[in-house]
Amino acid sequence: MPDITWDLLSQQVEQCRLCPLWQSATHKVPGQGDPHAPLMLIGEGPGQREDEEGLAFVGPAGQLLTRMLSAIYLPRDRVYICNAVKCRPPHNRTPLQEETDACKLHLRMQFVLVRPKVIVLLGSTALKAVLGQDHFITRERGIWIQRKGVWMMPTFHPSALLRDPDKKRDAWKDMQSLQSKLMELQLYSDIYGPLMTPS
Ligand code: URA
Repeated sequence: MPDITWDLLSQQVEQCRLCPLWQSATHKVPGQGDPHAPLMLIGEGPGQREDEEGLAFVGPAGQLLTRMLSAIYLPRDRVYICNAVKCRPPHNRTPLQEETDACKLHLRMQFVLVRPKVIVLLGSTALKAVLGQDHFITRERGIWIQRKGVWMMPTFHPSALLRDPDKKRDAWKDMQSLQSKLMELQLYSDIYGPLMTPS
């Protein structure tokens, strides 16, 4: 078994044929950000803009995500952002379970490489891909659980907030809870360097 490296991950994602989604993808979208970020965010899958650019969360949902992160003093480039599937599903449909299952190989490698202390699961697809099909976003959003020493919290996907602004109040509570968790674990100093933490 070769050592897990970022080069191996990019190669593996680039050459992946484990599900049919590669056939219609313009670019694979592995994810991006700080390779050793204490915080990882996982979305659903690339949309049109992401597919065109090969970068995660650069379309309208991504712009909202950037604003949500900066509201709790998190610059986007200091966290790691990726998706449950690395190829755009046709017409932005929800990825099928067999597609998220196939793509877990890459996500597991990302966990090993980044070693995040906190993971935010953006929406139902990410929640089910990481914690299992018997998890439900409406029931579990905002609730922290710890798995193998890593804190995880599901929250609404930013696209759901764009479709239904009534969800924004709960999403804001979740962002505040994320801020508290990062402060409790003293991770803002990892994110900014030792001299700056929000008061
Ligand atoms: N939605 C996602 O889940 N991921 C992206 O990268 C963009 C939109």
